[in-house]
Formats: sequence, C-alpha cells, structure tokens
Amino acid sequence: MPELSVEQFQSLSQVIYQKLGLYFDERKIYFLKTRVARRMAALGMDDPREYVFLVSYADPKGVEMQALANLVTTNETYMFREYEQLQAFANHCLPEVLSAKQERGEKSLRIWSAGCSSGEEAYTLAMILQEVFPQAQNWDCEIAATDIDENMLRKTAEARYGPRSVHEVPAEYRDKYLVDEGEECAVRRRTAALVHPFYLNLHDRMAMRAMRGFDFIFCRNVLIYFDDLSRKAVVDHFYNALNPGGYVFLGHSESIGRVTAAFKLKRFETHLVYVKE
Ligand SMILES: C[S@@+](CC[C@H](N)C(=O)[O-])C[C@H]1O[C@@H](n2cnc3c(N)ncnc32)[C@H](O)[C@@H]1O
Repeated sequence: MPELSVEQFQSLSQVIYQKLGLYFDERKIYFLKTRVARRMAALGMDDPREYVFLVSYADPKGVEMQALANLVTTNETYMFREYEQLQAFANHCLPEVLSAKQERGEKSLRIWSAGCSSGEEAYTLAMILQEVFPQAQNWDCEIAATDIDENMLRKTAEARYGPRSVHEVPAEYRDKYLVDEGEECAVRRRTAALVHPFYLNLHDRMAMRAMRGFDFIFCRNVLIYFDDLSRKAVVDHFYNALNPGGYVFLGHSESIGRVTAAFKLKRFETHLVYVKE
C-alpha cells in the first residue's frame, strides 16, 4: 500500500472537503489510504504524490474526484431504518401536510431523500405514502432520491434488494410492496415508479438552488460526515427547498440546532423533527 504522508493526507482531505463537504480528520488517514491505494492501482500509479497532484490540479472535470467519491462515502442503509421516526412521519407529519393540501385544493406532494445511498430510504417512504394515503395514485407524487455515489444511484434505479436491506420491512408490507426474485426481492412497479433517482452533490451550491417545492426532506445519516460549516450550508439550502409547513428529518443522533435557528423543533414521542413555519 502506498505511504500517504500527513501533508498528502491533508491536501487530499482539503480537496475532498472543498468538493464534497465531507470532513476527514487525521483519524481517517488509514481509511483514506486504502481508498487512494485502490484508485492508484486502477490508474497504474505508484507514487502518492502523483495522485495528490492529479486530484488537486489536473482534474478539471472532476472525473477522478468522482471516482474517489464513489469509494470514500459510507453507504450503510436498509429499509425502515429508524422505525419510530418513520412512525412520526406516517402518523403525524404526513397526514398534517396532506390535509392542509387537501384544504387548499392541491394534489401534489414532493419528498426528497437526500443522500439516499442505494435507495432503501426512498422506497420505504414510497411504501409508507401508499399505505397511509392510497389516493396518492391520483395525485402528482414524487420522491426525489439523490446521492453523489454513482454506484449507489445505479442500485437505487435497479430497485432490487437482498436480505440485509429488507430485514426490517414489516410483515404486512412485504408482499404488498415487494416481490421475491430468487435471493433478492424487487420493489413492485407501482411503488418504484414514485421514486426518481438522480445525481446531486449536497455541497454544490448551484445544484442545490435548483431544488425547490419540497414538502419533506429526509437527510438521515449524511450530515454526520460534514463539519458545522458545510452542514450549515446544506441546511440553509434545505430551508429554501421546503414549502412552508414542510419538514426535515435527520438521523436519530443528528441535530442542526447548532448551525441554524430557522426551523421550529417539534417533538413526536421520542422523535424530534424540524418544521419550516
Ligand atoms: C450512510 S448513507 C445514508 C443513507 C440513508 N439516508 C439512511 O439513512 O439509511 C450516507 C449517504 O450520503 C451520501 N453523501 C455523502 N456526501 C454527500 C454529498 N456531498 N452529496 C450527496 N450525497 C452525499 C453518501 O454517498 C451515502 O450514500
């Protein structure tokens, strides 16, 4: 494995931070070294200096940064992750937003799974939406599923999952929304059709400005890899991307209180959610 000096590690982590918002401190030196080794092997390089130079100065289109991004992201996910939080969504937030829309005569709903990894979260939301609101099929409903990892976006588009991804799916949802296909199971077409996967870097200001008109944003277990500054930038974009009355759901252990006071905090049983008033 190539030896990555502390200076080389710092240069690399700085470029990654600038491009992706992900913050790697020095405890991550071994992790980054193993990923860089894989990229160097693929490129036939044996001097880490050459690699650091490539990523820092000779990658105008971001091709190598993208290849590295595909390796440095943490993609752990599964369906119905953090179930109680999803219950708060299903039992309180979703009915509240839907009835406000019905009162206004609106028939559209937009949800964003930001940092969707291989898509399990987005399909979970699609299942819950169809379960709680069967009329969804007569509405214009969309679940945007975005990530920077191209491999994960491909998996999202395939909508086929192994046992690890589906082990928390409640029994009553299994056959209704998933169909067994050998070792794996596929998301049924009507449910899959609600989800639109596409590439989006949460740290890309221009791309983020184009995200507007959402009723719910789920960004769970993503911002833990950001520092306060890049986290604040993302959360400010979320505020603008949400319709008034819209909600942000973060991971169980995540909080944005330190980076913004724009949202109102609401508690449903043990779960905290952020709402744009
Ligand atoms: C641990 S997964 C979370 C998946 C899902 N939200 C969940 O809670 O199960 C984190 C995802 O965030 C994505 N991610 C990290 N930095 C990102 C960025 N700058 N823009 C978009 N996605 C990013 C990673 O590629 C990864 O797939």
